[in-house]
Formats: sequence, structure tokens, C-alpha cells
Amino acid sequence: MNKILNHKKILNNNVEMPQFGLGTYKMTNEEESLAAVKHALKIGYRHIDTAHIYKNHKIIANAIKESGVPRNEIFITSKIWITDFKEPEAAFDRILLELETDYIDLCLLHWFAPDWEKAYKLLEEKYLQKKVRAIGVSNFMVDQLQQLLKIAQVKPTVNQIELHPQLPCLEIVDFCNKNNIAITSWQTIMKGEVSKIGEIVEISEKYKVTPAQVALRWAWERGIIIIPKSVNNFRIEENCNIDNFKLSKEEIELINKLSPEVRLGPDPNNINEL
Ligand SMILES: NC(=O)c1ccc[n+]([C@@H]2O[C@H](COP(=O)([O-])OP(=O)(O)OC[C@H]3O[C@@H](n4cnc5c(N)ncnc54)[C@H](OP(=O)(O)O)[C@@H]3O)[C@@H](O)[C@H]2O)c1
Repeated sequence: MNKILNHKKILNNNVEMPQFGLGTYKMTNEEESLAAVKHALKIGYRHIDTAHIYKNHKIIANAIKESGVPRNEIFITSKIWITDFKEPEAAFDRILLELETDYIDLCLLHWFAPDWEKAYKLLEEKYLQKKVRAIGVSNFMVDQLQQLLKIAQVKPTVNQIELHPQLPCLEIVDFCNKNNIAITSWQTIMKGEVSKIGEIVEISEKYKVTPAQVALRWAWERGIIIIPKSVNNFRIEENCNIDNFKLSKEEIELINKLSPEVRLGPDPNNINEL
């Protein structure tokens, strides 16, 4: 039994969320993605991260059906895209329809964008109707979270952000820890580019693991939820195989202080980049 895949994070509403999951951004090739999700479920992954904008809800629904794993053993996260914030109910209902489920485990607002308040209120309603087990946001910076906390009737459980060895997000992680909001990291392995960071390569050689495993273990040890994406069976297995080594405090600190900071995705303070 893989301890990493079985480990759960307790969210601030007491819902248990597997700390390790499968990312699915760019998984749109039907045959390849179906096989990848099925393989992940077969080896014990129980958390899948998707979004309306990834256009793969139907593939994931089929993979879950074909896997034979009961729906209630799988934690599904999806996200409402910013252009749907004006009509969030239709967007939420479409997620359920496409995923062929009558509830989702976690629903996030994908970015801080106009009408986010209206969309968050809809998530609160769906939460009270038990159509979603936990609600939260993605790509919210500290000041944006502060605005949300002022109006929220239901506290966000999760903030999913770009976080990796060249963007350790110390301030926002600290803020979320203090406010009992869990952090999910996207692009933890920088799409494989962590293998170009000398310090990470050195640590990986010491423990005889890969640079991707070092980046994942670093985030894991910081208590962060990780969702590496892969369509390759070998890498799907490699990514969750991070229980046989532990980074020292000094190594975690060293990675926390790598410079310069590099942001791979859009700047959450400038959504015009989206
Ligand atoms: N909330 C947001 O705004 C947001 C934004 C971006 C992503 N996300 C979520 O976060 C997930 C992860 O981010 P991501 O998919 O962009 O990037 P990622 O997980 O950092 O990297 C995925 C890429 O790295 C490759 N890869 C996977 N495992 C590897 C390994 N062990 N060694 C070397 N290369 C490896 C994959 O190729 P193969 O598939 O060929 O293995 C793929 O090209 C997404 O899938 C999505 O669910 C959220």
C-alpha cells in the first residue's frame, strides 16, 4: 500500500482530501488520457484535479466508470472558469453533468476575476445543498483572500496556486496556514523543468531519486497538496513514489530560498495575461 496515495489532509470543514492527486491539464487526447487516468486509479490514486477549461470532464467520467473504483472513494476537484462567473449556476450544473456525478468533492473559482463574489456565493449555496463537499479558490493572492474572507459565509477550504522550487510562495502559504486554508500546488515539477535546477539535481543524486521527486517531496513536507500531471505510466508511478526518502530541514530551506523567482503561468494580479 502506497502511504503517499493514502494520506489525507483534513480540510477546515473536516472533509478528508488526499494530499496527492493526478493533475489533468492538457489531457485532451481521449485514448491517451483515458488510459492514464485508469492507470492512476489502478495503482491507487484517489484524487483527480480537473477544470471546465481543461475540456476533459467526460474522459474522466469514463475512466472512473471503467476503472471499477466506486465514485465515493475518489476525490474530484473541478473549477469554474472566469467567463462563467456571471452565470455560475449553469457552469456548476454542467460540471456535474459532464462528470456524470450528483456531487463533486471540491469546486474552486479558477482565478480572481470580475464577478468572483457572485460565483463564490453560488458555491456557498451548492455547498449548503450538499452538491459539493468543499469549496475554495485558485490563484488568489493574500489581498484577494482577505477580500474573500470578509464576505464569505462558508470559509474557503483550499487555495490552489502556482508553487514550485522557483516560486515557493512563502508569504501566501504562511497566510493560508494561519487561516486554516489548505494549499494545492500546481506545476510543482515545473512541467519537468526542475531537472534544470542545479541544487535540485544535486539533492536528487544524493537520495538516488529524480529531480521531479525532490520537488514533489519538498512540497509534500511543507504540507502542501500536490497534483503532478502525467499521461505516462512510468511517470505516474514515479511521481507518487516519494516515501523512501526525506529531505533535511536545511534542504527544504535551501529550496525555499532559490533565486530568482520564476513564474511560469499568468500573474494573478494581472488576469489580462489569461
Ligand atoms: N489552478 C490553475 O490555474 C492551474 C494551472 C495549471 C495547472 N493546474 C493543475 O495542476 C496540475 C499540474 O500542473 P501541470 O500539469 O501544468 O504541470 P506539472 O505537473 O508540473 O508538469 C506536467 C508535465 O511534466 C511532465 N512530467 C510528469 N511527470 C514527470 C516526471 N516525473 N519527470 C519529468 N517530467 C514529468 C508531463 O509529461 P507527461 O504527461 O508526458 O508525463 C507534463 O508535460 C495540472 O495538470 C492541473 O490539474 C492548475
